[in-house]
Amino acid sequence: MTVSSEIKSSARRAAPRRVFLKNYGCQMNVYDGARMLESLTPLGYQRTEDAESADLVILMSCHIRAKAAEKIYSDLGRIRQKKKEGSLVALAGCVAQAEGAESLRRAPVLDIVLGPQSLHKLPQILRRREREGIAETSIETALAADAKFRSLPPRGRASVSAFLTVQEGCDRFCSFCVVPYTRGAEFSRPVMDIIKEAEILALKGAKEIILLGQNVNAYRGRGFKRGEGLWSLARLIKRLAHIPEIRRIRYTTSHPSDMKEDLIRAHQEEEKLMPFLHLPAQSGSERILKAMNRRHDADFYWRIVKRLREARPDIALSSDFIVGFPGETEEDFQKTLALAERVSFAQAYSFKYSPRPGTPAASLDNQIPEETKQERLTRLRLLLDAQQRRFNESFVGRHLPVLLTGAGGGGGRGGGGGREGQIAAKSPYGQSVYLEKEGDSRHLAPGRVSDALITEGYAHALRGRAA
Ligand code: SAH
Ligand code: SF4
Ligand code: F3S
Repeated sequence: MTVSSEIKSSARRAAPRRVFLKNYGCQMNVYDGARMLESLTPLGYQRTEDAESADLVILMSCHIRAKAAEKIYSDLGRIRQKKKEGSLVALAGCVAQAEGAESLRRAPVLDIVLGPQSLHKLPQILRRREREGIAETSIETALAADAKFRSLPPRGRASVSAFLTVQEGCDRFCSFCVVPYTRGAEFSRPVMDIIKEAEILALKGAKEIILLGQNVNAYRGRGFKRGEGLWSLARLIKRLAHIPEIRRIRYTTSHPSDMKEDLIRAHQEEEKLMPFLHLPAQSGSERILKAMNRRHDADFYWRIVKRLREARPDIALSSDFIVGFPGETEEDFQKTLALAERVSFAQAYSFKYSPRPGTPAASLDNQIPEETKQERLTRLRLLLDAQQRRFNESFVGRHLPVLLTGAGGGGGRGGGGGREGQIAAKSPYGQSVYLEKEGDSRHLAPGRVSDALITEGYAHALRGRAA
């Protein structure tokens, strides 16, 4: 290399570049987004919150419902008008996977289209574009999750509550869902890789780890030794609990049919496993669950709830529900309300059924009118909101060990961002807790677990005092 070219290339390396990233969709996208940003650090990219001054704009897209997918295109339209001259625009995540080259027709502004299992290719694409002056759009939609995990650099940062993807993809093919097509087949990361990543996170300050997977309780990962068989999620959790700095472990999202005995028992035996479980039921009607291809009925769900509560009486349960699935009658919907009444959820999400291209349910001819979906959603939400409020209010006057997340604590429900004079924390049951600052609060540093007296319970959070 000549002296002048060396100076030029180091100047190029040193030039600060800005990357803007917006997340849509689930926690897997949050995890992927964070890792993608880390992979850009060696190229000199720093994160900015301002899309208009960014050299690279990345949208981590979600394809789960029509609304989520449409939002991407309206945002891309806005970005096209306001973006900095010469900047690059990348569509990443599940819309990129589902639509591939088709997304270019709707958004010609795109320079890069990257499916969820191709995120690790971004640095290489950027280098090549720069080196070779490529102008056409780069499209990467291969579906090999193991290549992604093997190629990403080690974790560079950790929040107090940190996500760690252990499983990707889904083989269950519920008739309404795009995930098996956008994330591909189920893949479990090897135990060794997960432990290494958890140890790095612990070293960088994580106190709580949230194990992620589209179907996380179907985890079956390669262990250390040849011939020892595949590890279950329960076994993985118990091993991760040996890391001293990790005080709390959670996992999401689980399928009722994969809720195995050893995992239920882990809720009784493993102190670090938090008493909270997101276990989507989708519907309470046997007929609808069958049409959804869920392969369980409401009774099976209820039996799992009972076993979980026997193992861990205080476990808080959360669910997802879909209303207005094709053919859903008022009687079917009543069964959904009945299941929710019976279980009494600590928290739950509910959605109107959204027909998704390429999924079997979208071509059923007994689609439900929008007004009926809306009306059922309103009724279900009324019940679920009342349950959540009741659950939160039940803690008033009680003491809870809360994990202090501090501003920007991150990591799922209730991470970070207390108001002025408050400290953000998270309860064992996943609730956001805001602690009043009183006198000297130096001992209330993020990362600590503190005893809190709960003084108020709201619809979506608790308020308390450090005791
Ligand atoms: N793997 C998880 C969740 C995947 S998607 C599971 O099996 O539960 C998250 C939630 O989005 C689902 O639980 C479901 O309630 C909802 N969802 C998925 N597809 C949908 C669709 N077509 N319309 C409405 N809601 C949908
Ligand atoms: Fe979708 Fe069903 Fe797989 Fe969940 S289990 S990701 S709802 S196909
Ligand atoms: Fe959305 Fe993909 Fe997650 S479709 S919900 S971002 S797996």
